[in-house]
Amino acid sequence: MKFGFFDDARREYVINTPTTPYPWINYLGTENFFSLISNTAGGYCFYRDARLRRLTRYRYNNTPNDSGGRYFYIYDGGDYWTPGWMPVKKELSFYECRHGMGYTSITGERNGISANQLVFVPLGYNGEVHKVTLKNTSDCDKSITLFSFVEFCLWNAWDDMTNFQRNFNTGEVEIDGSVIYHKTEYRERRDHYSFYSVNTPIDGFDTDRETFMGLYNGPDTPDAVAKGQSSNSVASGWSPIASHSIKVSLKPGEEKQLIFILGYVENREEEKWESLGIINKTKSKEMIAKFQTSQNVDNALKDLEEYWAELLSKYIIDSTDEKLSRMVNTWNPYQCMVTFNMSRSASYFESGIGRGMGFRDSNQDLLGFVHQIPQRARERIIDIASTQFENGGAYHQYQPLTKKGNNDIGGGFNDDPLWLILGTAAYIKETGDFGILDEPVPFDCNENNKASLFEHLKRSFYHVINNLGPHGLPLIGRADWNDCLNLNCFSKIPDESYQTYGDPDGRVAESVFIAGMFVFIGPEFVELCNRRGLTDEACEAQRHIDKMREITIEHGFDGEWFLRAYDALGNKVGSKECDEGKIFIEPQGLCVMGGIGVSEGLAQKALDSVKEMLDTKYGIMLQHPPYSKYHLNLGEISSYPPGYKENAGIFCHNNPWIAAAETVLGRGDRAFEIYSKIAPAYVEDISEIHRTEPYVYAQMIAGRDAVRHGEAKNSWLTGTAAWNFVTITQWILGIKPHYDGLMVDPCIPKAWDGYTIRRSFRGVEYDIKISNPAHVSKGVKSVTVDGEKLASNIIPVLGKGRVHSVEVEMG
Ligand code: BGC
Ligand code: NOJ
Repeated sequence: MKFGFFDDARREYVINTPTTPYPWINYLGTENFFSLISNTAGGYCFYRDARLRRLTRYRYNNTPNDSGGRYFYIYDGGDYWTPGWMPVKKELSFYECRHGMGYTSITGERNGISANQLVFVPLGYNGEVHKVTLKNTSDCDKSITLFSFVEFCLWNAWDDMTNFQRNFNTGEVEIDGSVIYHKTEYRERRDHYSFYSVNTPIDGFDTDRETFMGLYNGPDTPDAVAKGQSSNSVASGWSPIASHSIKVSLKPGEEKQLIFILGYVENREEEKWESLGIINKTKSKEMIAKFQTSQNVDNALKDLEEYWAELLSKYIIDSTDEKLSRMVNTWNPYQCMVTFNMSRSASYFESGIGRGMGFRDSNQDLLGFVHQIPQRARERIIDIASTQFENGGAYHQYQPLTKKGNNDIGGGFNDDPLWLILGTAAYIKETGDFGILDEPVPFDCNENNKASLFEHLKRSFYHVINNLGPHGLPLIGRADWNDCLNLNCFSKIPDESYQTYGDPDGRVAESVFIAGMFVFIGPEFVELCNRRGLTDEACEAQRHIDKMREITIEHGFDGEWFLRAYDALGNKVGSKECDEGKIFIEPQGLCVMGGIGVSEGLAQKALDSVKEMLDTKYGIMLQHPPYSKYHLNLGEISSYPPGYKENAGIFCHNNPWIAAAETVLGRGDRAFEIYSKIAPAYVEDISEIHRTEPYVYAQMIAGRDAVRHGEAKNSWLTGTAAWNFVTITQWILGIKPHYDGLMVDPCIPKAWDGYTIRRSFRGVEYDIKISNPAHVSKGVKSVTVDGEKLASNIIPVLGKGRVHSVEVEMG
């Protein structure tokens, strides 16, 4: 069942009922100010840091779901309603939500009034613009009262939901004409306030939640709205809100627009006050002045549209499969940008108060956005590398505000260092900027202890080699990519963290996954050595890779598939000998992507085993059979009920690894089958089962053993976005950035006749037409560029200034 449709031309998903199976959200903001907004106007916003600078309050895990947002109430002769349906939930004669690139537009209609709220964060602006359009669709005169409503968060979201002995005394506001200022804690150490304004004189306001709502009412039945009258209340202690009321008269067919701004301002210490206790409003007034007219708003929205059009212009496919086009051209890269901006901080599943930037996560995210914003990818790489330790290990996470490694979680996740090599290589391939390797980068953020980025990569590479276990496979440490496979943890006490408890330096537990990663990613390091003229270094590194390949085949292959690991007692994990957790997805993906066992036929066996043992109609499960009880030697993975998360859920992040691995074997039909099984646009028709947004990936879909098989959770902030983008655009459609140009190497379903890709690469535009007259899956017979035949399948970086036309014939 569908709950909306894709409007491809406008790059929007259009939702036509407010009762979606879960709130379907969008993200607003491009630089410092960000917002989450659901299809019923729920959500919240923050400045840079979702924990420390939260502007508005949101109630996670509340009933009803999705409580808190920017609500507009329409009071119409005793009846009152909200155009987004929530929170009042009065029946609407029309409802529509359009989630677009960085904006959301919600329309509701009732009793001859149509109300639209358009919400976005203009470029370079620290605030949300809410343009409200009211239209009289009846044939008689209408007099209504419009109430706005936002509830302020007392900045620190964690404190805001825990520290009530203090919070119920600190709330402060100031009211100046049509502007309501939130200034809690501004009197002391804060240098920031927020405000909510409207571009018209108001008929009343409320800033005290209890007065507006009534102590025993919710936002569905606020007292002020029910009686159609604000009380002009001033919050003092207790919970500050901002609500304006405005009387609006509309003739039949008449339309009026109002512009509200929810903004954030910082003032320097010496400029904080206008007079004693009165805040300096200069900057807020400037912000408000920018959006006085609908024309101002429309222009800013147009700028935003152009910004997105430019970002999304780097890779455009023209194919006959509209679902493929909408994923590749719009929604997958859009999600990649959101993961770049948010990391794993704020979604409807991540509460915005924990989890910094993951070392592993951020490097992988980079693979998905580097072609859109290479300069910011460069900065990100340096930030990440700066948190690396001298021994090549790394903090597992760092804080975005301080950019310092997070001591609470520390290091010891032994896959982390290798992702830095992959991220850096992707950046250099995209940009040709080898200079980044000479950039001096601190260890552990210590400015007095720096080495070149290249040296950091070398330490990453050798961190694996310096930490090998009894079979010569890499030691796993606290965990590898699978955070929940905690082989050195042995936790028995409820509140111990699986991620930080136990001995990260265990010398027995080994990861076949890291071995596969090493063979897959290591060659990038070899290549970089060679390009720096370090041939001895390159040869030595290559010897380690070759040896790891042999050891993986010798000790990491289990007859029909790759083993997952050896635990701290030396027992096999992910083996036919195990009763549960016989086969894991991750090593089958990475080992084959690294080419291990391809010539020996082992890779084929491994991927066939994946199909036979892990595949379901909703995607490939992480492992199987699920753990039915808690295994002390395995950790968090066995803490989840069967079918959820890492315990045999369909973890969407690693499905594309299998698709990519299938392309190594040339099996394009299977690769695309895997891709399309979980790609959101392809599962739109089963939204009632899948439940999360049909335009973005979720981290997990419940596996076959779960009660709700097929149900997705944790949408938006997941490495799934980047990996699916890389897999479809590079491994399947086959346009891969290479150090020397663009490599063309598709692996597609045999039935495909061809497709065209417009790729902008290092400032040059290529129009690449791929035809498949022989109906093969893989193999490039010829490549011609501007009429000239190339000797290889790497398109060189040609002169700027015109679109180069590339013809590729498969066969
Ligand atoms: C989750 C994992 C996640 C980890 C992040 C765990 O509790 O189950 O999916 O990778 O936290 O640190
Ligand atoms: C989510 C985490 O963010 C990521 O780092 C990890 O690889 C996966 N879960 C799998 O555990």
